[in-house]
Amino acid sequence: GVTMRYSVDEQRLLFDLSKRLLGEVPTASPLEAAIQIADLARCLEYHEWRYYILNDPMLGDFEYDTLFKMLQSLERSYPNLKSKDSPTTRVGNDAVTDVAQAQHLTAMLSLENSYNSDDLNDFDAQIKKLADLPDDVAIVYCVEPKFDGGTIALVYEDDVLVRAATRGNGIIGEEMTHNARVMRSIPLRAEFSKYGIRKVELRGEALIRKDIFERANKQREADGLQLFANPRNAATGGLRTKDPKETKARGIEAFVYQLGYAENMAGALVTRNFESHHEAIELLGKLGFMVPTSETKVCQNIGEVIEFCNEWQVKRDDYAYEIDGMVVKVNDLRIQDQCGSTSHHPRWAVAFKFKAKQATTKLLDVEFQVGKTGAITPVAKLSPVALAGVTVSSVSLHNEDFINSKDLRIGDTVLVERAGDVIPYIVKSLAELRDGTEQPIVYPTFCPFDETKTTTLLRLDDVAAYRCPECTCGKQVYQKFVFHVSKDAMDIEGLSKATIERFMDMGWLRSIADFYRLDYEKIAQLDGFGPKSAKNLQLAIERAKQNPIQRFLHSLAVHHLGRKASKLLAAEVEHVLDLATWDKERFLTIKEIGPVLADNVMRFMSDEQNIALLKELESLGVNMIATDEDRKPAVVADGALTGKTILFTGALSLFTRDQAEKLASANGATIASSVSKNLHILVVGEKAGSKLKKAQDIKTVQIISESEFAALIE
Ligand code: IVH
Repeated sequence: GVTMRYSVDEQRLLFDLSKRLLGEVPTASPLEAAIQIADLARCLEYHEWRYYILNDPMLGDFEYDTLFKMLQSLERSYPNLKSKDSPTTRVGNDAVTDVAQAQHLTAMLSLENSYNSDDLNDFDAQIKKLADLPDDVAIVYCVEPKFDGGTIALVYEDDVLVRAATRGNGIIGEEMTHNARVMRSIPLRAEFSKYGIRKVELRGEALIRKDIFERANKQREADGLQLFANPRNAATGGLRTKDPKETKARGIEAFVYQLGYAENMAGALVTRNFESHHEAIELLGKLGFMVPTSETKVCQNIGEVIEFCNEWQVKRDDYAYEIDGMVVKVNDLRIQDQCGSTSHHPRWAVAFKFKAKQATTKLLDVEFQVGKTGAITPVAKLSPVALAGVTVSSVSLHNEDFINSKDLRIGDTVLVERAGDVIPYIVKSLAELRDGTEQPIVYPTFCPFDETKTTTLLRLDDVAAYRCPECTCGKQVYQKFVFHVSKDAMDIEGLSKATIERFMDMGWLRSIADFYRLDYEKIAQLDGFGPKSAKNLQLAIERAKQNPIQRFLHSLAVHHLGRKASKLLAAEVEHVLDLATWDKERFLTIKEIGPVLADNVMRFMSDEQNIALLKELESLGVNMIATDEDRKPAVVADGALTGKTILFTGALSLFTRDQAEKLASANGATIASSVSKNLHILVVGEKAGSKLKKAQDIKTVQIISESEFAALIE
């Protein structure tokens, strides 16, 4: 059933109150301030619940932010009226210097595993034995996802969140209250007192949604940062940061799935004073926690449990969060108590683990491949192994640091994992299984394909990758060619890898320019070609010459210059060669472009040979001029600010900075990061300083107020 923290009447009241507050200004009277502060806090708490728990906000982000800022400003004027659980404490300003230890109120136990219906039937039989029940009585179970994130324990006293901790060794964990505060799915206050509870400890799991994880990793790749191995690592790492801003940036959410400890007003233990586990979870949902209600099923017997587990085995990859199984819990707390616990796990619960995503196999060999930018990638050849329905026989080892940190050796038995759609990777090597015949992995110091051994590799420290700076073996060029014509780049149909290799062997392809001066008569005479396919190839290449320059930029295989960045650059130039005149600052005026990419493009554009190549390509008819397609911004084709670059400066009062920028991009604008002659609009808030001055000097920049901006996007 749907659980509700607020009744319909309360919701109406809080909504009306929010609307009224939106029409008010922060008061100057201390007496009224106390009321306004309390009202604002109540309203914000309510809207956070609508947004983070129900996923169904009633206010726009802007309205929410307005209330938030109003509360902030009042609390600044009346610091002693600020409560310690105020919604404004969720901004994450208080980084910690030390991580404190936290002793859990009751031990956090593990779970026994089960893998198939036989195991579950055995479990069911065992429960009946422990509870002294006849075989023909059906046990009711509560079955919920087994979340694959970081375990957390939350303590509330007198309705206020007082402590959050990681699981640690089950007895003592690490305190992370500062980080829990920025996770808005964790209520700072919950009305346990209404149910006679003064102190509780809740167990739950902190997680990152899979799509958010993918996006974060793409961004890290673009920024040249080390990638997270999987959503779990990103979440558990985020829980333990000293800086809550980092936790906040990772977008971690928390599900609550167990009432660990509860004490009433008189200090008596009331953890087991519920009918069932499900009832306790429903109460937590009612109090505003994120509980897995729609993923949970109360099953009337073990047969239903098995069916439900099998259903989830199939749909696990479609679920927004990583789960590695289901947890089956005896629903009736009295039966739970009859079963009891060992020091390791409760006897009334069992984890049903999904089919292995992990398996062990032998690392047979390591091959070194050369990529289009010359980066050398080590690839492990594995003895083929079945992993969640797919046979895996090779996995990337990324770079030298990866190999060293995992201490991998040829001949090792390694643990391989494949999580959802995530590509398989080596979790670790099992050093205890070594017999002494294992060989170290020797990183090449020369290009692995260069028989003359003259092209020394350069190590790039940022990503621990080696790169071949002067390719003589031709592999790199070949990869560049393959990439140049690929679907995401110039999209030339009819040029398979085999054809490219063949043309290279014939001596027809030495540079990218050669694609655009192929001799179609000769091609027509090749085995397997003929006049028709030669003609088709010619048409495809002629068409590619007219491509928007975003495709062309991407096709150049500049490191980190992906599709999105290419599009962003294309939108800001007339001609591809304009980029050769850009300095770093100019690149960095584009918000999504970072210093690493800027350096790479600048390096490419300052190489005379590259410039000559571009000019040659242009003379061969390849389009270098931005087209209408290039002018279209990434998200909005016809927004009020399409094609404009915009920058905000000074203190804004109608919007938060973030809100304003989002609104601007939603309306088609590109957010600039500094004032330059390429800036179209500067929005000035209060106390604008040097940026305003600079913009006034440039003269071509349109300077507008915040309300004018609001009117523009209206
Ligand atoms: S109940 C006393 N329920 O699985 C009950 N645990 O080995 C023990 N986990 O790391 C835990 N989802 O964090 C429970 N729905 C769920 C769970 C769950 C994930 C994790 C838990 C712990 C491990 C238990």
